[in-house]
Amino acid sequence: MANENKWGSNIAFILAMIGSAVGLGNIWRYPYVLYSNGGGAFYIPYLFAIITLAIPFIILEYGVGYNYQASFTKAIVKLKPKFEVYGWLLPVGIFIMTIYYSTIIGWDGIYFFLSFFKGWGTDPNTFLNVNLLQATDSLSGVSNFIPFIAIFMLIGWFFIWLISRKNLDKGLGKVCKIFVPLLFIVMIIIVIFSLTLPGAYIGLAELFDPDWSLLWHFDIWMAAFGQIFFSLSLGMGAGFTYASYTEDNIDLISSGICVIIANCAFENFAALGVFSILGYMSLQSGAPISEIVSQGTTLIFVAYPQVFNILGTIGLILGPMFFFTVYIAGLTSILSSFEVLSISIQNKFALTRRRAAGILCLVGALISMVYATSSGGYILGITDIFINNILVIFSVFVECILFAWIFKAERLIDFMNGRSKAFKLGKWWLAHVKYIIPVILVVIWFGGLGELLALKTTDSVIILTGLVLTLVIFSVIFTRLPAKSKEWFVTQERIK
Ligand code: ALA
Repeated sequence: MANENKWGSNIAFILAMIGSAVGLGNIWRYPYVLYSNGGGAFYIPYLFAIITLAIPFIILEYGVGYNYQASFTKAIVKLKPKFEVYGWLLPVGIFIMTIYYSTIIGWDGIYFFLSFFKGWGTDPNTFLNVNLLQATDSLSGVSNFIPFIAIFMLIGWFFIWLISRKNLDKGLGKVCKIFVPLLFIVMIIIVIFSLTLPGAYIGLAELFDPDWSLLWHFDIWMAAFGQIFFSLSLGMGAGFTYASYTEDNIDLISSGICVIIANCAFENFAALGVFSILGYMSLQSGAPISEIVSQGTTLIFVAYPQVFNILGTIGLILGPMFFFTVYIAGLTSILSSFEVLSISIQNKFALTRRRAAGILCLVGALISMVYATSSGGYILGITDIFINNILVIFSVFVECILFAWIFKAERLIDFMNGRSKAFKLGKWWLAHVKYIIPVILVVIWFGGLGELLALKTTDSVIILTGLVLTLVIFSVIFTRLPAKSKEWFVTQERIK
């Protein structure tokens, strides 16, 4: 099984990590977060979050993952057998995220197909909400199954299955080596073109216009941390899992910094493109940017199609390019979140990659059908808040305690420094992973809980209860099921 789960080279690891980080969070989430949280002023909390949280934590996650050469769950079992149930909680939670992420990829697949003939018509808003999603803001639409959406979601699952079942370097490694550079190239073309559009400057001036007064608001700091978590896939087990497949000579400090720089450069670059296009739209329609800008699905699937409509024939080239980019960004991210549970069940139940991929894709595809109903978008929104605001932050906190305190982060320093010429770890790093990050996380976690509690409707309580029960029940089942692999309790450590 060892070769089946090894990167062929260190560059394959870095590209796969960039592929994992650069995703929907960079394209549809970041531009809106930057704009609505103080524009240029947002860079202060954003850089603070990168320096105090992202860099120290990613190094910790990579170091411990490298050491154990095993799944997140197996490492937890080795570290503290009593914590096995937590070792499953994160992979199961991230699998739930994988399922809803597959929905957005499915929607994007539909728009990629439609973009060749602008099949969304002259009113993309009505098309998205009424014709395509037939959206309801409650659970009342759960019995209204929409086969057209289901087909595109299943196509997404087919790709996940096709890539994940292969030997790591031939499947995931190869896909990332081809598609991650392509992702950057296509994005550069789109952004350069967007910058040349008349009115681009209107969008950019709005985007960067700093509102310094917002720096005193807690929300903007929460938004910066939330963005960094999501965008870099921190605490999702992906970095841990990918680092566990690396070779002995890997420089994990430089690799982590390189991934962070690539990811943040990509999202800031994407923001330039998005706001140039919105500026162009504002000039054409006479509506102010604040009325046109929106986040998430509405930005990608309403504002963009509107722009492609205005652009005439150029829209027929730019449209497919854009939706293709989003698809690839989403696919390379979802493959990494899929990997977390997959390698855990491979390790405990002695399954091959092929078999684990088959089982999980089948289960994931079946469950994902709930998102192919009229209530899909509604359930997705609540699941997203729950996973990102509650589970992932909780998980980073527990990882800090387990890895920095129980594993002892000090153990990593000599090893990591020995392989890194450019950067060295020292006391400042230990202070971050042991004290500063856990304290920041407690504050953010309560902020996130507040947002969730504010939802209050009966349907949201039903969904949240369902999510918590699913998480707990599956984590307990996986913990209780007897290990089939003789090696489950035998974990080699690479760092002495
Ligand atoms: N890091 C992934 C994204 O940005 C989850 O979409």
